[in-house]
Formats: sequence, structure tokens, C-alpha cells
Amino acid sequence: MTPESPQLLNPPPDLGINLPPPRHIAIIMDGNGRWAAQRGLPRVTGHENGAQALRAVTETCCALGVQCLTVYAFSTENWKRPAEEVSALFGLLELFLASELPTLLANNIRLRAIGRLHELPPSALSALESTIAHTATNTGMSLVLAINYSGRAELEDAVRSVCKEVAQGTLRPEDFTQEDLQRNLYTRDWPDPDLLIRTSGEMRLSNFLLWQLSYTELYVTPKCWPDFGKEDLVEAIRDFHRRKRRFGGI
Ligand code: FPP
Repeated sequence: MTPESPQLLNPPPDLGINLPPPRHIAIIMDGNGRWAAQRGLPRVTGHENGAQALRAVTETCCALGVQCLTVYAFSTENWKRPAEEVSALFGLLELFLASELPTLLANNIRLRAIGRLHELPPSALSALESTIAHTATNTGMSLVLAINYSGRAELEDAVRSVCKEVAQGTLRPEDFTQEDLQRNLYTRDWPDPDLLIRTSGEMRLSNFLLWQLSYTELYVTPKCWPDFGKEDLVEAIRDFHRRKRRFGGI
């Protein structure tokens, strides 16, 4: 990825949205492989172009005033892919972090990560921790990378933490509520996503944020992730504003 000069996004560009943006947008960035196959290119080229799409969407979300953007970058199931692809994905993550840091700093964006991060390759983990530390005092949008993440693994880890509290005597089983689970989730610092965007047309959650998506509005587009741009994001937000959210009420 070519490091570009940091872009200052204040004041925000006029994207034609006069309504407040969703507070929290989550994205399943799917279709990098198909995008590459359609062009006779190696899969890794699809991921490289996917990283460029992530850069553009991050900057647009920040400019629009979104508070939190969570993206599914690598699932606990993605280790099943060929070793070269896994290695290329973590290499790309390191490149992305290095090239994005100036833009994150210039735009007050705080980087966070969720998932079983301790299982990442050491150099990727170190680059991730360093970028998280460099942006830790930023107070604007949070960009949350879900890496070695799955919703079931997150629930497993949260339930294990709750079990420890019970074993230590700090929580009685009869007092256990959803809030006890919630405060042990990786995502405890953020509100649940308002809008989930999935690219490449697949109609499934793929083990992403299973607890948090309970009342999230879903938006699926047939476009592959590398083709998803600012206009597509704006269209997804316009569609979100046409929804009537009732959260189980009337
Ligand atoms: C799904 O496409 C995408 C992934 C498994 C990885 C997502 C990674 C990126 C967008 C690269 C940039 C990210 C960072 C954080 C640097 P797929 O490979 O499953 O596509 P397919 O279903 O068409 O094969």
C-alpha cells in the first residue's frame, strides 16, 4: 500500500446527508477473493484493494461523525485458509497500520482491536499494540478491528470470565444478569452497532458480533468489498434512515 499523506477531514465534505449518522457501523468486508478472481488476479490483490476500501470508508465515517466503526478483518475460522494467504493478510495488516497512523492521528481516530489477539503472529501483534498505544488518547471516532475474532469465541471468553467471578465468590449465580455478560464482552466500551453492512451479497452473519447485532439494521449489497466506496456508504446510511427501529416495541 502506498503511504499517502494524512488527510484532515475537518470540515466534513458535503455528502448530501442531513441526518445524524448511525453512532456505530459494523462491516463484514466480504468478496475480496471474488473481486480478484473476476479480474484474473491473485487473491492477495483483492485483499490489497480491500485495504484501500477500508481506508476510504474509515475516512468517510470519520468525516460524517460516526462514533464507532467495527470491521471484520480476520475471523477465528480464517486460519483454515492457505498459509500464504494468512501470512499475506497479516503482512497487509502491518502495512495498513503503518500507512494509516498519520491519518488516524490527524483525524483524532482511536484504534482498538477485538478478538483473541494473543494468538496473532508476534510482529502483527506488536504493530497493532503500538498503533493502539499511539492513538490511545484520541477522542474522536473509534476504529475497531476484529481480528482472530468470532462471536462464539467472544461469548465463550465472556462466560469463562463470569464463571471465574462466581468461583471467586464475587458474583452469586442467582444474581447473574445479561449485564454481567455484557460487561465481560470485548465490546463493552461501545454501544451495539446501529447498522451492519455486508458486501458481496451473502445473507449471513458469519459468526460476527452475535450478541451485539440483536437489534441492528442489516444492509447487504452485492458489491464486492474492494468496490465499496464513499457513495455506497452514503447510500447504506440513507437506507438506514428509512428504517423504523422498534426494538421489539410498537
Ligand atoms: C473477506 O473476503 C475478507 C477477509 C477474510 C479479510 C478482510 C481483509 C481486508 C479487507 C484487508 C484489509 C484489512 C486490514 C485490516 C488491513 P474473502 O477473502 O472471504 O472473499 P471471497 O469470499 O470472495 O473469497
